[in-house]
Amino acid sequence: MLSGRTVAVGVSGGIAAYKACELVRWLKARGSAVIVVMTRGAAEFVTPLTFQTLSGNPVVHDLWGDQSPGFDLPQGAARKVGGKVGHVDVAEAADVLVIAPATANLIARLVHGEAPDALTSVALASRSPLIVCPAMDVEMWRNPVTQANVRTLRARGAIVVGPESGPLASGLEGPGRLADIETIGQAVEEALVRRASLEGVRVLVGAGRTEEPIDPVRVLTNRSSGKMGFALAEGARDRGAEVTLVAGPASIDPPERVKRVGVATAAEMEKAMVEASRSAEVVLMAAAVADFRPRRVSTRKVKRDGSLELELEPNPDILARLASMRRKGQVLIGFALETEQGLRRARAKLQEKGVDLIVLNAPGEAIGSDTNRVTLVEARTARRLPVLSKREVAEEILDRALELRAARGGAGRAGRARQVAARTVPTPRARPAAPRRVAARREAR
Ligand code: CTP
Repeated sequence: MLSGRTVAVGVSGGIAAYKACELVRWLKARGSAVIVVMTRGAAEFVTPLTFQTLSGNPVVHDLWGDQSPGFDLPQGAARKVGGKVGHVDVAEAADVLVIAPATANLIARLVHGEAPDALTSVALASRSPLIVCPAMDVEMWRNPVTQANVRTLRARGAIVVGPESGPLASGLEGPGRLADIETIGQAVEEALVRRASLEGVRVLVGAGRTEEPIDPVRVLTNRSSGKMGFALAEGARDRGAEVTLVAGPASIDPPERVKRVGVATAAEMEKAMVEASRSAEVVLMAAAVADFRPRRVSTRKVKRDGSLELELEPNPDILARLASMRRKGQVLIGFALETEQGLRRARAKLQEKGVDLIVLNAPGEAIGSDTNRVTLVEARTARRLPVLSKREVAEEILDRALELRAARGGAGRAGRARQVAARTVPTPRARPAAPRRVAARREAR
């Protein structure tokens, strides 16, 4: 997996910087080209010469230094290096950027898009998968600011690996240790597999809410934010898919670099989805379609004189229609929002609508939130996931869509994706643990 690939290893200024030497060796041993990008703080812990020797490439640590230091890279990556602007060259050449260790300060800068040094500039210029491996003292990790920053990175699609719990350099004990090198290395492999897993596959996503006009001013709608559908579109795009996003109104901006078809009503959404589904190989219907629309739309603003009765008629079931015209081998995934008897109703929808998988969620956990807790419901299985960012939920759904596609003979790289995923140790999640004082207490010094 790593042979012929280029990995940019970002090192920021924490004591765990020395462990990044092992990561570079791990990656090199598996055939990857490595470019190390260091912050000034990192160079206080480990010299650039160490990383240069281990990686076999010049180390980028000065935004203002030599802009074309002459990297030794695989052909594909070498072609992308313009040799004019160092941090842009690294961002273009790297198939993945892994930052290990990532200090609290570095994470905060990533969140805010600050780029005062070479590493943050590479991160800002990069479109490749970003793996962030936090390492810091326990209270810095547990600080709500850091926790919020990490959530933001996850929501934007970064893969966060670690930290692990154990004794820390400060003398405290708790979460804050850099994840195991093997775990980080496997996350790099998995990111590489995922990155190409939908190369050239046509993916259609329905997202956002619909609005059904009552008069020129008012609409019937719902509280859906569009975040889940947009996360799916971003995830598919980042895996190399050709994404068409049919989007109703939403509370956030739609993703870049996808083909976007804007709609407002369910009827418009139906037309756009039907049209786009003719060529789509994977269809993901996350839109919150209004179930009813006013039978008559007033051309004038309805006045507040007396009471108002609206007669509603049902909207078409778009997902059921898509299922009825499904192309051979097409994977079709829908959602279900239920307040009660979720599993039973999701199963019923799976059957009635004729889809491969229903993503079951509840309004309290799904609507408007950046996170979601879903169950992936299929004919014979139901897999409940933990609370994840919507982007992480999207990745789980896309992984499963790939497996379903492979099962239908649509093959691709899903099989391999599955193998790597199975080998990858799940990312330890932030679980605040009480810091325990160990023998050498800081105050005693
Ligand atoms: N859906 C659709 N067209 C509709 C209503 C829903 O395509 N008119 C899709 C949604 O995008 C979702 C799935 O059907 O993928 C289930 O939506 P949900 O609102 O949970 O269920 P409904 O089919 O609307 O049924 P009910 O509201 O009675 O639970």
